[in-house]
Amino acid sequence: MPHSPGDLGDPRNLAEKYASYFPIGAAVDSQSYMTHAALLKTHFNSVTAENEMKFESLQRTEGSFSYDAADRIVNFAVASGMKIRGHALVWHSQNPAWLFSNGSGGTVSKQTLLARMNSHISNVMRHFRGKVYAWDVVNEAMMEDGTYRTGNLAEGQKSRWHEIIGESYIAEAFKAAHAADPDAKLFYNDFYNYIPAKQQGIYNMLKGLLAQGVPVHGVGLQAHFNVEPSTVTTNQAYYQHVANLEEAIKLYSSLGLEVQVTELDISLYIPGMTYNQSTFYTAATFTDDLKAKQAARYREFFELFREYRTVITGVTFWGIADDNTWLSEFSSGRKDFPLLFDVNHDPKPAYDAVVGF
Ligand code: XIL
Repeated sequence: MPHSPGDLGDPRNLAEKYASYFPIGAAVDSQSYMTHAALLKTHFNSVTAENEMKFESLQRTEGSFSYDAADRIVNFAVASGMKIRGHALVWHSQNPAWLFSNGSGGTVSKQTLLARMNSHISNVMRHFRGKVYAWDVVNEAMMEDGTYRTGNLAEGQKSRWHEIIGESYIAEAFKAAHAADPDAKLFYNDFYNYIPAKQQGIYNMLKGLLAQGVPVHGVGLQAHFNVEPSTVTTNQAYYQHVANLEEAIKLYSSLGLEVQVTELDISLYIPGMTYNQSTFYTAATFTDDLKAKQAARYREFFELFREYRTVITGVTFWGIADDNTWLSEFSSGRKDFPLLFDVNHDPKPAYDAVVGF
């Protein structure tokens, strides 16, 4: 079935196909919104900046905001009639060093960090007000076992927000966000929502926030999946089954929250298995069988998303085509092929699986 993704008005384009379900988004970076513009404009009606709206990108130096890269993406999206999701205001990762420092070699005080958080949220959200309709206000605050991400974890994993402020940083972030832009939809965003203990932890946290009157409107499911679940019982991906994700959607939506799939991709690698240079996938070893398997996996998740279309208000892929994915950012040279379009920007079997039912 020949069809070109570049054909504007292709009746089989993704966003048109899903128009009655939910907007279809893609994460874009400072280059890809141009280099992948044809695919982007044809198949997607929503964008997220992959890195350009993170704390370290917007406020590298205290009090000095650099909006240029993000603005270019926003201007492109506005001109193309696309929705824009903001990502992410408060996260343990990709922060500038000054944020948690007191400037003389020690740690910033709780009071000052809260002030910095409020100032960042307020400046950023006011800047993008009227353009960015939804924000990931807090990203990845929970652990796999349903406890909070604290300061007692390895570098790169720990949350200095939690360490310095305590768990109230979450409620304070949402309150500041609502004050900065009362029209924006405010999301809590996280990964591994299919793990029962984690979804319960997130549910309990959100329930508590809502009971206190904290303005939270939705939950983002990152949805970085793999071509099959792990068979290793101690591996997080042991729980990576559609039925487990469905439980998360049911739980969160039972609180009256909307749900968005915010960072969808399906890696060819199976967690718990070991790979090396000789088993890393290449375009040549990404066989038709594996393409079909990835397509079937995409299909089963889209069946679920469609079933829950009344609560799912957006599905965003974490990238556009396989030539530009964060899963190929490894220094080892490991490449991955997790999206609907291949390295040549042609639709894959996964694309056909998603639009063909
Ligand atoms: C990733 C980007 O895709 C990479 O380019 C960057 O090097 C690291 O961050 N969860 C998130 C996203 O919420 O912000 C992450 O994005 C992927 C995991």
